[in-house]
Amino acid sequence: MRGKFITLEGVDGAGKSTHVEWLADMLRSGGRRVAVTREPGGTELAEKLRELMLHSPMEPLTETLLMFAARDEHVRRRILPDLDAGTWVVCDRFTESTLAYQGGGKGVDAGLIGQLSQIVHPGLKPDLTLVFDCPYEISHARVTGTRRALDRFEREGRAFFERVRAAYVAAAQAEPQRVHLIDSTQTLETIRACLQGLVSKLA
Ligand code: TYD
Repeated sequence: MRGKFITLEGVDGAGKSTHVEWLADMLRSGGRRVAVTREPGGTELAEKLRELMLHSPMEPLTETLLMFAARDEHVRRRILPDLDAGTWVVCDRFTESTLAYQGGGKGVDAGLIGQLSQIVHPGLKPDLTLVFDCPYEISHARVTGTRRALDRFEREGRAFFERVRAAYVAAAQAEPQRVHLIDSTQTLETIRACLQGLVSKLA
């Protein structure tokens, strides 16, 4: 049987990365084979493209095309082979990020992003997308509280953040069965219980 494809999404600083490994371990303890990966990235070349996208100034369309170039490598070399082998794939960001950041945040045409996703991953849609949501103040405090240098996306201001956030909220409203908005200001316990409930419906 084909594996399930679960993606974690959301604005920067919403704590998404905290939940990735926990979710994978929870699934493994239920007897599933699970692969954890991320975007942009997931293959050697895609990780190189990630470095470029996170740190080199570029046009929004260039950025969008590079996101899909990296995604093409990732989907064909890792995600599809894993899913076909029955492995569940937990992916830290996927195309919903492109719609939110390049589409909502930077004004790249959503129709174009839709076309690119049809070319790069026709027929592949996450079975479940978890969108971690939080207000700007919390995101800003978390992102600037880290000691490492901020990337291009983390350096954007409040207006950009609000556009990205709104795009995620719209995605959850458009596909409520598949895309779930999770208030990341709740306690870890509450969030984990919520994730457990959502994932249990997939099996
Ligand atoms: P992120 O998962 O936030 O990395 P980290 O937790 O290490 O900071 O992802 C890096 C950035 O990439 C994030 O700010 C959003 C951006 N991004 C896009 O703009 N479009 C995309 O399609 C993807 C996958 C990511």
